[in-house]
Amino acid sequence: MGKEYLIAGNWKMYKNAAESRAFVSDLAGTFTQVPGLAVAVFPPFTALAGLRSLDGKIKIGAQNMFYEEKGAFTGEISPLMLQELVDYVLIGHSERREIFKESDEDVNKKIRMALQFNLLPVLCVGETLQERETGKTRAKIERQLEKALHGVASRDSGKIIIAYEPIWAIGTGLNATPKQAQEVHHFIKGLWRELAPGQNLQILYGGSVKPENSLELLAQEDVAGVLVGGASLKIESFSAIIQNCVQLLKQ
Ligand code: 13P
Repeated sequence: MGKEYLIAGNWKMYKNAAESRAFVSDLAGTFTQVPGLAVAVFPPFTALAGLRSLDGKIKIGAQNMFYEEKGAFTGEISPLMLQELVDYVLIGHSERREIFKESDEDVNKKIRMALQFNLLPVLCVGETLQERETGKTRAKIERQLEKALHGVASRDSGKIIIAYEPIWAIGTGLNATPKQAQEVHHFIKGLWRELAPGQNLQILYGGSVKPENSLELLAQEDVAGVLVGGASLKIESFSAIIQNCVQLLKQ
């Protein structure tokens, strides 16, 4: 079986409900579905319900969730609520970890709850510039993965998607080179064989992905998709990245 790709757009805190609906309808018109390609967007919570009725060509994900099913947690959104609206949920994005102080333990609880509610978790991991420059990239990622998977049954870990997002590459215009991305993805694959024996793993790269660098990144052996921030907010750039993936699949 050939490689399965996921081209995902993380919209962060951009686009209201109406803009999100218009974008998804327009984007759907820019590509034809091909085997091996899935396209997803991760809009703000307020847009999710409005996207449900649209053509299922584009999958929908949430950017975060809380790890309880219900209760007195003012301002939080539970996996039970997301279950009827989305396919995927981002867990542990570096902005959640850094700005909102999410710990590895929080990430672990969220992963377990997402799986329990049949949401596909996209687990984000990645190192800071300082960690990279001091040779700590592998240790950091190993710790993040081990902690995130704590107590997860091996058969369930096969449902997890990983997004490798070096923090120094997010929103900086400075992407990891295809070689740097491949090296870390390969390392993660090796870890996965120990952490989740026999389970498949799809790894996305994220961090300043644009049309100009996406083809080469996607062509790397262990890169099975991209998680795009800024360039997913415009139809032209996001659809150009999708087209690059289609081109690779046709080769
Ligand atoms: P940019 O593509 O804007 O660097 O953002 C990456 C990201 O954080 C995706 O989750």
